[in-house]
Amino acid sequence: MSAKFDAVYRRSIEDPAGFWAEAAKGIDWIQPWERVLDDRNPPFYRWFSGAKLNTCWNCLDRHVAAGRGEQIALIHDSPVTQTVKRFSYRALRDAVARFAGALVNQGVGKGDRVIIYMPMVPEALIAMLACARLGAIHSVVFGGFAPKELKSRIDDAKPKVVVTASCGIEVSRIIAYKPLLDAAIEQAEYKPETCIVLQRPMEEAKLITGRDIDWNDAVAAAQPADCVPVAATDPLYILYTSGTTGRPKGVVRDNGGHAVALHWSMENIYGIKPGETWFTASDVGWVVGHSYIVYAPLLKGCTTILYEGKPVGTPDAGAFWRVLSEHKVPAMFTAPTAFRAIRRDDPNGELLKKYDLSGFRALFLAGERSDPPTLEWAEQLLKVPVIDHWWQTETGWSIAANCLGIELLPVKHGSPTRPVPGWTLQVLDETGHPAAPGEIGNLCGKLPLPPGTFPTLWNDDARFVDSYLARFPGYYQTSDAGLIDEDGYVYVMARTDDIINVAGHRLSTGGMEEVLASHPDVAECAVIGVHDSLKGQVPVGFLVLKAGVDRPSAKIVSEVVQLVRDRIGPVAAFKTATVVARLPKTRSGKILRGTMQKIADGQEYAMPATIDDPAILGEIDDALQDIGYAKK
Ligand code: COA
Ligand code: AMP
Repeated sequence: MSAKFDAVYRRSIEDPAGFWAEAAKGIDWIQPWERVLDDRNPPFYRWFSGAKLNTCWNCLDRHVAAGRGEQIALIHDSPVTQTVKRFSYRALRDAVARFAGALVNQGVGKGDRVIIYMPMVPEALIAMLACARLGAIHSVVFGGFAPKELKSRIDDAKPKVVVTASCGIEVSRIIAYKPLLDAAIEQAEYKPETCIVLQRPMEEAKLITGRDIDWNDAVAAAQPADCVPVAATDPLYILYTSGTTGRPKGVVRDNGGHAVALHWSMENIYGIKPGETWFTASDVGWVVGHSYIVYAPLLKGCTTILYEGKPVGTPDAGAFWRVLSEHKVPAMFTAPTAFRAIRRDDPNGELLKKYDLSGFRALFLAGERSDPPTLEWAEQLLKVPVIDHWWQTETGWSIAANCLGIELLPVKHGSPTRPVPGWTLQVLDETGHPAAPGEIGNLCGKLPLPPGTFPTLWNDDARFVDSYLARFPGYYQTSDAGLIDEDGYVYVMARTDDIINVAGHRLSTGGMEEVLASHPDVAECAVIGVHDSLKGQVPVGFLVLKAGVDRPSAKIVSEVVQLVRDRIGPVAAFKTATVVARLPKTRSGKILRGTMQKIADGQEYAMPATIDDPAILGEIDDALQDIGYAKK
């Protein structure tokens, strides 16, 4: 039943160098590698060391050279502006080369950082690829983050240039991006020399003389720039993701291993061939957007869809079906939350009847746990395989998946199937010993990890080792808890750290607690992720007020809600908090967040043996019931 997959998987583990060298034939190299896997400096493993390539060449120029110049590379489908714009491979290459020239005019060269803070417009993708063309390192920041988050990324990445747009559009609301960038730069210690601003007609931004340049002027003054050869091990991008504190982690992606792994994944995991159209409904600000809106489909010579809209509300819950039928898409990728939103608005799938999805072959879901009811609903509606797969910003592509392009394995609902080729996954118990099949523990990847996974954190090798490699020597700690069953199927249950997953977006409750604690009336606080039928999880805050504070609780709650929105951004979806007299703790003073979460979700829980005062759990239960949680 799985012979074909087993053979491919076994080869990847027994002979990783041979396996990935063969996959590397799918990429154009300027100089061949000296070592496929460079293991001279563990735990800092490197792939394809000694080789040179250019990722932008591999995404664009080589396809033009091979006769795909007139094929559509990019479709910008934007229901929020009611436009659909297409770029051929030739047109996209020319636009990217020209914008790369504009960056060169601003002094950007190999190794320089460029922050991209943009909505879902073609220019975001053009700016990313232009950086890749020059060997500059892009760092895309998701638009839903507040200025303070942007500021911390500016201070860490120290970009020579920031590329932004005047505004984004959230369904029908215009979100002015430029003032958010201005505020971030105002707060930052490091000041970028230049900001290039795409003016959108819905709301034009005020430019700051001497610092800001209009995108069109920058491009008009530029000559097309050529691809710059870079080392396979040079960074392609930095993508910041939530860490266990408010300080985000700068996940680094290299050029060579990334190109090989992503190119390989399009056909082997997703079953997509060159020339086919591919739709990932995510945002370029997330890793899913980097890998499967931009790099993988273009590396493979596909047509990629950049969708500026929502699954519902732009205009209705048939939005994805329209995109799939209008652009004849054989497979798509999104987060389960999008399907929960569609199901909520159109439970019987009436809107699907308006569209022809006869060429549609598979739906891929990731970013959070796929709840079986939503997955089954999608299977019954679409009548194609619905494939849950598991990955992280750090890994850049799947850790576990049902590799449709190799062989579709039987689906077990609730499991993202088996580790993909290249990954040796092990469940380890708290003492670092392998757990038995079916036993829950820490999901860990045996080092070295396959190509495409992160080689380190930006300017922070020590944090890379401390956060991911130190606890279980020889392994990468995913910080996901789960199990592997007798058939080798992986089940991902929960994070082992303070990360929660809200509408497929990864957020740190620790980061939110830092914001709540900064309120002058708050003595102590805790934030937990509680179950939400649409977003999977939403954060809920608990506040213990300082002695003597007699302002109304509701007022303080609304102030902290606003504070999180201002400091982290609307993406945190922090809307609920409650004032309590005290927090439940262990005798050593550790807040019992896990137990609080179980109470909130109405789950059974065991009284923690180390609890200091069990009566407090009753108080938490009452407080949660008052705000609509802890239903029995
Ligand atoms: N720029 C500015 N604001 C943004 C934004 C952006 N790029 N993206 C989201 N926001 C805002 C939203 O408008 C919302 O603001 P509000 O509190 O004023 O309403 C807030 O951030 C929270 O956004 P979200 O959690 O996404 O909720 P939503 O109600 O807008 O949409 C879904 C819910 C399920 C439709 C949406 O999250 C979705 O489509 N998710 C699936 C796809 C996806 O993005 N996956 C991510 C990784 S695969
Ligand atoms: P991100 O880095 O934003 O991609 O988030 C990664 C985290 O999302 C993982 O560590 C998991 O906790 C969760 N996640 C992603 N995909 C899945 C999945 N298919 N099943 C369960 N959890 C998932």
